[in-house]
Amino acid sequence: TEESMQKAYQELVHQTGKGKEYLGWLHLPSEIDPKLLAEIEADAQRIQKIAKIFIVIGIGGSYLGARAVIEALHSQMPLLESPQKAPLVLYAGHQLSEDYLVELLALLDKHDYALTIISKSGTTTEPAVAFRILKNHLEQKYGKAQARERIIAITDKEKGALKQLANEEGYKTYVVPDEVGGRYSVLTPVGLLPIAVAGFDIRALIEGANTMRTELLSSSQAEKNLAMQYACLRTIFYEAGKKIELMVNYEPRLFFFTEWWKQLYGESEGKEGKGLFPAGVSFTSDLHSMGQYIQEGPKHLFETVLSINSPHLSLEVPHDKANLDVMNFLSGQRLSYINAKAQEATCLAHQGGGVPTIRICVPSLNEFYLGQLIYFYEFACGLSAYHLGVNPFDQPGVEAYKKNMFRLLGK
Ligand code: PA5
Repeated sequence: TEESMQKAYQELVHQTGKGKEYLGWLHLPSEIDPKLLAEIEADAQRIQKIAKIFIVIGIGGSYLGARAVIEALHSQMPLLESPQKAPLVLYAGHQLSEDYLVELLALLDKHDYALTIISKSGTTTEPAVAFRILKNHLEQKYGKAQARERIIAITDKEKGALKQLANEEGYKTYVVPDEVGGRYSVLTPVGLLPIAVAGFDIRALIEGANTMRTELLSSSQAEKNLAMQYACLRTIFYEAGKKIELMVNYEPRLFFFTEWWKQLYGESEGKEGKGLFPAGVSFTSDLHSMGQYIQEGPKHLFETVLSINSPHLSLEVPHDKANLDVMNFLSGQRLSYINAKAQEATCLAHQGGGVPTIRICVPSLNEFYLGQLIYFYEFACGLSAYHLGVNPFDQPGVEAYKKNMFRLLGK
């Protein structure tokens, strides 16, 4: 596999493979314009001053990257009263639920907010409908002139309905580069603006991605190249009949990172009747729901554990004199130690059950390491898809439901 993966590596780095016009993400971290970063940071600060809530309207690649990073870094508890430095980021246009939008509007009646509408094509139904509704709400709440200051559009540089609307209404806009597809766009304004508004360090994110880029471009030998190793292993498992890759996390804040990864791999590889099915589980919660299937169900799974070595915070199990719950054997132990042992134990159990495990470890969760992970997964995805013989950068299958929906809605 390593030998045949070499061909995929050459296609990727020399930009000769299928969909090569969408390889702009390969050099984004090293080529990003410092002026663009400064502009995004300035807009983020401006929004932080005028909004308590920031709505990100987008779907798929136009929203999952931002959400993956923000939720990996943000406090996991709802903040009831404390004054926050940065607005709370909420999402819209990522589904068509009526209840969701009505509840969101009720919340927005009570708080100052701003929004971004992100759509590369500018024609996607879900975000377009949500934007129409939120734009009306914003204009009624603040008046047209003030509402305009609270809207940022991120779209194609010249094509599409959103670009035309933004021009006519005079919205601030950012460009989704032509050569970067939606699911590879987190390091463009698509991801960077929401992440900066949420108060996180986009320069550290880019720096992390850039260090990974340098590393992955420096050698095509699997022993020196982590993305090659990952791509080779998942290919070996796929060819051995393991058709499902389970991305495992032991930190709930990684839930949306898994969602981002699922889209990246599912949409890049699942075509022409081929491709691993990317699924996600959150342990140890899902060990109590999916654990049985993983351990003893059909042997078509392997796991990729994304493991975080150190948490940011610290908490020990207290001693209890009565010990009625019989947990005193854990007294004084940190939760992270118990979590690490659960990982070790699960890995052993699943391997015993015919479910091999790949482990990807990062020292801690911060912008820098998330940047590394983003680039690592994107690069390995390009390699895997080229090895599989498919175009990693198109998604022809997504159109089928849209056509039916438009027909049923009488478009
Ligand atoms: O990865 C992709 O291309 C898709 O997930 C798109 O990002 C998603 O369909 C949204 O498209 P758009 O940004 O054109 O609204």
